[in-house]
Amino acid sequence: MIQKPKGTKDLLPEESYKWQEVEKNIKQVLDNYNFKEIRVPVFEHTELFQRGVGETTDVVQKEMYTFEDKGGRSITLRPEGTAGAVRAYIENGMASMPNPVKLWYNMGMYRYENVQKGRLREFHQIGIELIGSESSLADIETILVASQIFKVLNIPNIKLNINSIGCPKCRREYQKILKEFIGKNLDKYCDTCKTRFEKNPMRILDCKEKKCKELNKGAPKMLDYLCEECKEHFENVKRMLEASGIKYEIDSSIVRGLDYYTKTVFEFIDGESGLTVLGGGRYDGLIEELGGQSVPAVGFATGMERLMEMYNENNELNEKVPDLYILSNGIEENRKALEISEELRKENYIIEKDVCERSFKAQMKYANKINSKYLLVIGENEIKTNIAKIKNMETGEEKDVNLNVQEIKKCIR
Ligand code: HAM
Repeated sequence: MIQKPKGTKDLLPEESYKWQEVEKNIKQVLDNYNFKEIRVPVFEHTELFQRGVGETTDVVQKEMYTFEDKGGRSITLRPEGTAGAVRAYIENGMASMPNPVKLWYNMGMYRYENVQKGRLREFHQIGIELIGSESSLADIETILVASQIFKVLNIPNIKLNINSIGCPKCRREYQKILKEFIGKNLDKYCDTCKTRFEKNPMRILDCKEKKCKELNKGAPKMLDYLCEECKEHFENVKRMLEASGIKYEIDSSIVRGLDYYTKTVFEFIDGESGLTVLGGGRYDGLIEELGGQSVPAVGFATGMERLMEMYNENNELNEKVPDLYILSNGIEENRKALEISEELRKENYIIEKDVCERSFKAQMKYANKINSKYLLVIGENEIKTNIAKIKNMETGEEKDVNLNVQEIKKCIR
């Protein structure tokens, strides 16, 4: 038997209805904040991610699904949504739309990762990109959307960590000082950290290896080296979070795994597993880097698989069951069943009927298994008299009903 590739998942009906509920609730939040949906290609030119996400990142160095297409182009399955959304923003002249441009997406992402709990090779992200504002008000709106999502999904055990990683100007100075600190013990760091030392020393700060964490203790913090503008921006973000009643902690080890971030970065952490469920931040240089004008932006993405874990821990959601099963057998009877089903379905009732030409007994069994709320039996006699029995499957109560949609509706309401 052919099995699904490692790191992918089948989403079965027993779970998909929960995803739909979560997606519906999130969409409502995004609508309330007036974000509009964008859908971009599953694959892009590899260069987009190399330039957008950054050459030195794990995503680009190790995790991309890259292949040459039949025309000899290097193509990559999107590992994240921001680069594609920004490419679309530039390519479609969205800079001339009313500013700011507020986009959201719900898309599959592909990263060749070490598969473990909460880490898949195909996963799904819902994300937002607020493009066109440098104000800390935009950072706050972005974080508010995220925290509202957890609120409407009834997920209480979540922690917000924030940091500022400054702008290229203040970061240059800081990186020099950080390299001096790390350089003293570089030979003791793990191999990954060693390779990051020259091009991306800040990533060493979020290495999860125990020995590196130990070595990082006492490292100089970016927050102490922010330029005046970045410092003021961060102070405003903190002040407004407090004013909005949003609890947060400052975690100076957050640098994020993608190169485009500037100033504010943030993560929402699952209080139970410690996994990052949602991550984002400001990326003021990305649009220019990808060939657009210099336009500031901020956004986030949440991993649906991780979010669903948390949702399921905190919510009990029952699947919708049929309002009515119409049991019938015989040409006239089936025709009547079909007529009534179609009428009721038009009015958004969930109706099931036989499509296998099974016996009454087999249909009854099926109606039971699928937890139909009511059962209507149409046999020869019922066609003659135009009166049928309708049964409440929960109480077992039965009554006669005229075989007419209005009358049936009264019984199953
Ligand atoms: P990211 O931190 O790489 O950011 O991913 C965001 C979220 O996607 C993570 O917090 C996690 O929940 C989920 N995720 C990432 N990798 C995996 C995986 N292998 N398996 C399951 N879930 C995963 C971004 O992608 C940025 N584009 C977010 C952003 C938008 N920043 C600004 N705008």
